[in-house]
Amino acid sequence: MSAPALQVIVLTLFPDMFPGPLGFSLAGKGLKDGLWTLEALNIRDFAEGRHANVDDTPYGGGAGMVMRPDVVGRAIDAAFEKLPGATLVHLTPRGAPLTQGLVRTQFAAPDTRLILLCGRFEGIDERINDHYKPLEISLGDFVLYGGEVAAMALLEAVVRQCEGALGNPQTLEEESFSIGENSALLLEYPHYTKPPLWKGLSVPEALLSGHHAKIRQWRREQAEAITRERRPDLIEAHHVKRETK
Ligand SMILES: C[S@@+](CC[C@H](N)C(=O)[O-])C[C@H]1O[C@@H](n2cnc3c(N)ncnc32)[C@H](O)[C@@H]1O
Repeated sequence: MSAPALQVIVLTLFPDMFPGPLGFSLAGKGLKDGLWTLEALNIRDFAEGRHANVDDTPYGGGAGMVMRPDVVGRAIDAAFEKLPGATLVHLTPRGAPLTQGLVRTQFAAPDTRLILLCGRFEGIDERINDHYKPLEISLGDFVLYGGEVAAMALLEAVVRQCEGALGNPQTLEEESFSIGENSALLLEYPHYTKPPLWKGLSVPEALLSGHHAKIRQWRREQAEAITRERRPDLIEAHHVKRETK
């Protein structure tokens, strides 16, 4: 049998979700035939201590829990040991929108290796992005419970690009895709949780201050800066919406 066109490791708190829909139809046939491979690793297996905690409360306060960088980092390192040279993808609403153009340019090469990181809760400590510099990809301008469905959507789009994965390869040339309207949103500010120092990366001073107005201002500035940098269209829409209120 020839080498698989695509090798994938998914990092998730719910490995039993996989292959899920990808086990059916042409994607499922490709998986069974070895056209592509899929392994789901449980992030919880990389937690330590009696309670195996994968998350903790956010520095600076606020609702929800944040996934710890030490636990997620160990899971990523283990995945890279299994799949050296892989592209790390973090599924997050703050990422570049998933488009067919992105699928074609980033993932359609033969012998593609992917590690897909799925967040839960409020998301993953920002230092994972700082340290590993993953490709951050969003399924769209909406919030899911977790990254798993987004990972499945990305994979389904990528598997379809593999040679031999479609009944009629001409389908790829002929199909179209549509771009939805953007809603007026700001992207979220970065999150941080324990430990306060990880791999030489510290938590921003403002979040440790305990000063609520300062934290609010820092988060607002970060959200605006990140949105301006990544999605100026959203900033414009946001201002228009505010002015017309
Ligand atoms: C409840 S969400 C966190 C949302 C985050 N607090 C925010 O407002 O941006 C938990 C996880 O679901 C995944 N997720 C949610 N919406 C997503 C989307 N549109 N695209 C990709 N992943 C998404 C991410 O992995 C995220 O870490």
